[in-house]
Amino acid sequence: MTILVTGAAGYLGNQTVKKLAAMGRPVRALVRKRAKAALRLADVAERVEIVEGDVTRPGSLAPAMRDVSAVIHYVAIAMEKGGQTYESVNYQGTVNVLKAAQSAGVKRFINMSQNGASSELPYRFLASKGRAQEYVAASEMQWTALRPSAIFGPQDEFFNTFARLLKITPLVFPLIGGGKAEFQPVSVYDVVEAVLRCLDDDSTIGAELALGGPEALTLGEIERRVMAAMNTRRLLVPVPVPLLRPAVQVMQALLPGSPVSTSLLDLLAVANTVPDNALVNHFGMAPIPFADEHIQYLNDHSLGDIFAKFLRNATVN
Ligand SMILES: NC(=O)c1ccc[n+]([C@@H]2O[C@H](COP(=O)([O-])OP(=O)(O)OC[C@H]3O[C@@H](n4cnc5c(N)ncnc54)[C@H](OP(=O)(O)O)[C@@H]3O)[C@@H](O)[C@H]2O)c1
Repeated sequence: MTILVTGAAGYLGNQTVKKLAAMGRPVRALVRKRAKAALRLADVAERVEIVEGDVTRPGSLAPAMRDVSAVIHYVAIAMEKGGQTYESVNYQGTVNVLKAAQSAGVKRFINMSQNGASSELPYRFLASKGRAQEYVAASEMQWTALRPSAIFGPQDEFFNTFARLLKITPLVFPLIGGGKAEFQPVSVYDVVEAVLRCLDDDSTIGAELALGGPEALTLGEIERRVMAAMNTRRLLVPVPVPLLRPAVQVMQALLPGSPVSTSLLDLLAVANTVPDNALVNHFGMAPIPFADEHIQYLNDHSLGDIFAKFLRNATVN
């Protein structure tokens, strides 16, 4: 039987599809735009079935569910754009995918949630992810939820954004909110490994597993490690979040590929560390650190790619 991966042209999605294909497991990739999938899944195109579907259009999902034994659900947006809202994609999109899976008789559902997601928070992104998981947990599905902290690796949007901005910013660089926000960066390879282990580990059914790297780091430490990996230095200047907000609003309005939004700035107020790390405590893994030898990909940005990303929201890696 086939494993369906939603958001399969996305960052976690394409890595997961490639790994499943390499393991010889039948895999179907649900993508919104075939062109992006053609780029990201080129290496495995012959071994992967690619289907188009939009989680906000329930009718487009049924064909993807044929002969599926498990769904790995990744689709979500971190920034709202056009008609794509947290409510329509993160919450209602998850409801739509789960209902389509149930109608097709699928039993297993791996839901990619988020560390800190909770319907009770005033932050709309985290609240939408929290409500989505509540819906999954209340269903009859054999579900598992994963709750990673910020994920690093080639194609990441968070750490690569610092690298791109550093490359086009001379001398000084903002230390957002004084750099005090805490994260526990976790490698994309560890997250994908955990997802795939869940497929064959029934003890994860009904569990919400938090995933993090081996160390908690402040944003200031992260910015310093990014600079060290890029062999560059800037004077880090603390900038309070309220001061950044107007600049981010302008960026959001003008740049199709704005690297940050005001609702993402809000998230810096929420601790993103993982006290009970399932990578270690459940899977017995030794998580990859956010350290120099593992973050050299931050150097892979040409100026052309950086402007294509910010000005056109192009897929550049
Ligand atoms: N990245 C992290 O640091 C991180 C940390 C914790 C949790 N997570 C969670 O992990 C999951 C995957 O994240 P990611 O970083 O891989 O994100 P991503 O690269 O943005 O991938 C998400 C994919 O969803 C697709 N999508 C968006 N709207 C859609 C729609 N209406 N219908 C169908 N597909 C749609 C996107 O397609 P397009 O490319 O065409 O827009 C994209 O390929 C998300 O649930 C996220 O909340 C991520």
